[in-house]
Amino acid sequence: MKIMNMSHNIYIHVPFCVKKCQYCAFYSRACANPVWENYAIKVIGEIEHFGKILGAVSVPTVFFGGGTPSLMPTVIFARIMDAIQKNFHLAPDAEITLEANPGTLPTDKLSDFCKIGMNRLSVGVQSFDDDKLKFLGRIHTADDAIKLLDAAMNAGIRVSGDFIYGLPGEDVDSVIQTCRRINDIGISHCSMYELTIEENTPFGKMNLDMPTNENMADMYMAIGANLNMPRYEVSNYATPTQECRHNQNVWDGGAYIGIGDGAAGRIFMDGTWYEELGGGKMFNPISDDTRAVERVITGMRTVRGVLVDNMTEKVINIEFAKSHPDMLRFANNRISATDKGMLVLDDLITKLVK
Ligand SMILES: C[S@@+](CC[C@H](N)C(=O)[O-])C[C@H]1O[C@@H](n2cnc3c(N)ncnc32)[C@H](O)[C@@H]1O
Ligand code: SF4
Repeated sequence: MKIMNMSHNIYIHVPFCVKKCQYCAFYSRACANPVWENYAIKVIGEIEHFGKILGAVSVPTVFFGGGTPSLMPTVIFARIMDAIQKNFHLAPDAEITLEANPGTLPTDKLSDFCKIGMNRLSVGVQSFDDDKLKFLGRIHTADDAIKLLDAAMNAGIRVSGDFIYGLPGEDVDSVIQTCRRINDIGISHCSMYELTIEENTPFGKMNLDMPTNENMADMYMAIGANLNMPRYEVSNYATPTQECRHNQNVWDGGAYIGIGDGAAGRIFMDGTWYEELGGGKMFNPISDDTRAVERVITGMRTVRGVLVDNMTEKVINIEFAKSHPDMLRFANNRISATDKGMLVLDDLITKLVK
């Protein structure tokens, strides 16, 4: 008898934006009016393919990321959701997230997305200062973003905001102001990203006068101290129970299917892990040890840390962990980074993995 495969979350990449932002190296291209029919055919084809090879497994979350998923016509969203329902067992309480750029989501379109099943919106706010939004190359004002957050909260769905801090000239006072505005607006989840200068972006060629590492660390600590919701991952904060279930599963080392060019997945099928890229670009088996190292890397990003079980214990340097109690803590069979450890996380993970 064939054993039913475990549940898989689904990530769908939408690789189009109205315009590229100055800092962004995400897989997307500026194209406000793509041929959506071609996009839908490709994405639905991939959904059907995974439905066939995995069987109609349970799908607890679907995440439309980008690029700019809110650009997608709602009829295309409906067809993709329909294909997921036909090929998998979409959980009745599934978390269905859509990333949105405030310049692309009028209230009537938001309401249509909700009617079709979207129940969580992640809004790219980035800043409450219009001059900074211009500098970042955004297509919207702060007011547009606040109106979208309000409209989504009024629609009764879960709402998150993305913010970027550590712009040239920013300091602890500026991030405290941002945190206060976020608290006042009342969203229950936000992602606070330190501005990263990526090669091959306009910012990568500008030689910007960035805050020092010490200033960035002070801003990071100020965010933790001033937001009214706790950090649960390096860059993510939520009122307890409002954490993003989709991303939490990725960090915990669960299985997820990546669909569409620019997506990545980790499939667990018939006892083997596979590394997968959307668009049919890759589907390779990986060893349990490789998967365990990935679990340590992603699990350590979360405040609750990585579970030490028979898979991860083989790749964790327990001696190192035990000899650095200021950076690492053990509790409930998990290893996690302390606040001090979070500030040097990449270095810490390199040493923690055997
Ligand atoms: C796919 S985008 C979110 C949705 C939509 N595309 C938007 O920008 O409104 C993911 C988030 O990554 C963050 N991000 C992208 N590039 C970044 C960089 N170089 N440094 C810091 N944050 C970045 C932004 O906060 C952005 O909202
Ligand atoms: S930040 Fe968002 S809107 Fe801007 S280019 Fe990147 S994916 Fe597109």
